[in-house]
Amino acid sequence: MYYPEELVEEVRSKNDIVEVVSGYVKLQRKGNNHWGCCPFHNEKTPSFSVNGPKQMYHCFGCGVSGNVYTFVMKYENYSFPEAVRFLAGRAGVQLPELEYTDEMRRKESKRARLLEVNKAAAKFFYYQLRTPRGTLGYQYLQKRQLSDETMHKFGLGYAGKNGEDLVRYLREKGFEDELIKESGLASFSEKRGLVSPFWNRVMFPIQDGNHRVIGFGGRVMGDGEPKYLNSPETPIFDKRRNLYGLNFARTARSGNIILCEGYMDVIAMHQAGFHQAVASLGTAFTLEQAGLLRRYTENVLLAYDSDGAGVKAALRGIGILREAGLTGRVINMKPYKDPDEFMKACGREAFQERIDQAENSFFFEIRILEGQYDMRDPEQKTRFHREIARKLCDFTEDVERENYLQAVADKYFIGAENLRRLVVSYASRTGLARPVERPKPGTRQKNSPQESARRSQRLLVTWITDEPAIYGKIRQYISPEDFTEEMYRKVAGRLFEQLEQGQFRPADIISMFEDEEEQKQAAEIFNTSLPKLQTGQEREKALHDILMAVKKNRYEYDTANMGTDMGALNRVIEGKRALEELAKTHISL
Ligand code: GTP
Ligand code: MN
Repeated sequence: MYYPEELVEEVRSKNDIVEVVSGYVKLQRKGNNHWGCCPFHNEKTPSFSVNGPKQMYHCFGCGVSGNVYTFVMKYENYSFPEAVRFLAGRAGVQLPELEYTDEMRRKESKRARLLEVNKAAAKFFYYQLRTPRGTLGYQYLQKRQLSDETMHKFGLGYAGKNGEDLVRYLREKGFEDELIKESGLASFSEKRGLVSPFWNRVMFPIQDGNHRVIGFGGRVMGDGEPKYLNSPETPIFDKRRNLYGLNFARTARSGNIILCEGYMDVIAMHQAGFHQAVASLGTAFTLEQAGLLRRYTENVLLAYDSDGAGVKAALRGIGILREAGLTGRVINMKPYKDPDEFMKACGREAFQERIDQAENSFFFEIRILEGQYDMRDPEQKTRFHREIARKLCDFTEDVERENYLQAVADKYFIGAENLRRLVVSYASRTGLARPVERPKPGTRQKNSPQESARRSQRLLVTWITDEPAIYGKIRQYISPEDFTEEMYRKVAGRLFEQLEQGQFRPADIISMFEDEEEQKQAAEIFNTSLPKLQTGQEREKALHDILMAVKKNRYEYDTANMGTDMGALNRVIEGKRALEELAKTHISL
């Protein structure tokens, strides 16, 4: 443990989960639960619930659950100790300085070490740029009209004439070769040993939402191939789930976010005062990134290159934004190629005008489509209209579809009635309502005997946390030892201990586990879906069945693992007796 357990619990209890989550997700109260759209998967109707009494969250769509710690860990990409520090700060709880022992260092997660080595490399590049040896890089960035302030803000740096200096520096700082290799900052070659692929480039550190360096992009100064070299994916660098500039954009509060194609575009935009600009990381824009944006805004502006490739990328981006429940608008950059060039030529006021005039993404799509048909040819014109009708069918909401239909009919001089008929005919052929998105089912085997045993153990724990009062009715029949899996036994042990003392703090139990995966599993134990039961009789029977299943599983487990151990034999005999007794017992609720 990094911090004493009592302190971890104090910090947790001083951070009400409903309040904390409300800072990130719009919640609406219904009964004991607060509901909102899940920040961890894409959805348009709320299935994310936060439960005040339990101090836990659970998403009925994608299945995530946990307490206030796991929430900020997941949302902010924090390790457990980082989450403790963050929430302690929020609640004004003083934490002791952490004294790292060797043991803790060794235990410290791979992720934390990768973050450290990236940070060290960023420092190295940063100072290189600002020494005489970095003149070439500095001049290049100046030529691109970046101010010192901007270079500093983005932590821009320089990788010198060879790939060995960085490695030497990192080794001096105590990073092992293995780690340096895993970070992608260097790779091993037979001839030269460990060398960095980053040399003779200006360096763009890529930061996550919390300003931590997770990778790099390096650009050649002038022409050369490849133009950009990016860090490979590592446990901390997921290119699908991060955006360049998001660390600044997330707090820009400008009412929108501007999505660009390149690092240089983002930097030029920020320099001009548009702190809401972000870009994907050398790969195409993803659904995960759209989900990330949706946490901060409903209004995304695309500032993609105005050339053919840029238009194609914009069309693709629009589809992804729509899938994530966002409406995009497209900024027209013409006659300039990209935001960087536009800004240099016309400046910020002119760009603001372009923002104000940004085109609704649907009309952008239609306008691009129009260019593919010859409107003088009735056949092609009809095909164009059909294509419009087909696109209108993408709107699942009637009012929205009708509004767009009217607007596009006006704009392209199509009779609204005719267009509507086309839509209806297309819809009836294909089925208007698209299938509802369903999150991927878990990979866990649903029907194995082990899983069904785990399931009844989970059901029991969830039921007790939903209705702590039933513990009193069943305590004589059940004990933590009835839970065959270690984690379940620990969770039940702590829960029963609390209840015996007249306490109820299930959210605390999740923090007993330090490992994120374990926390996730522990949280799951508290958040199984209980069957919907109406009558008292149904409830009594269900509870009895679950108890029986748990007991029976323990008994069968002991029987199978008995061997020649006398203690085990006794347990089996005792288990059989308890099982028979329980079978005859009526538990009234
Ligand atoms: P400048 O050309 O310096 O203005 O940079 P830019 O950011 O405008 O680059 P560009 O529009 O050509 O490309 C957009 C983004 O695609 C870049 O920021 C990179 O993330 C990525 N990219 C461009 N070229 C390469 C390349 O050669 N390899 C990789 N992996 N990514 C690239
Ligand atoms: Mn550019």
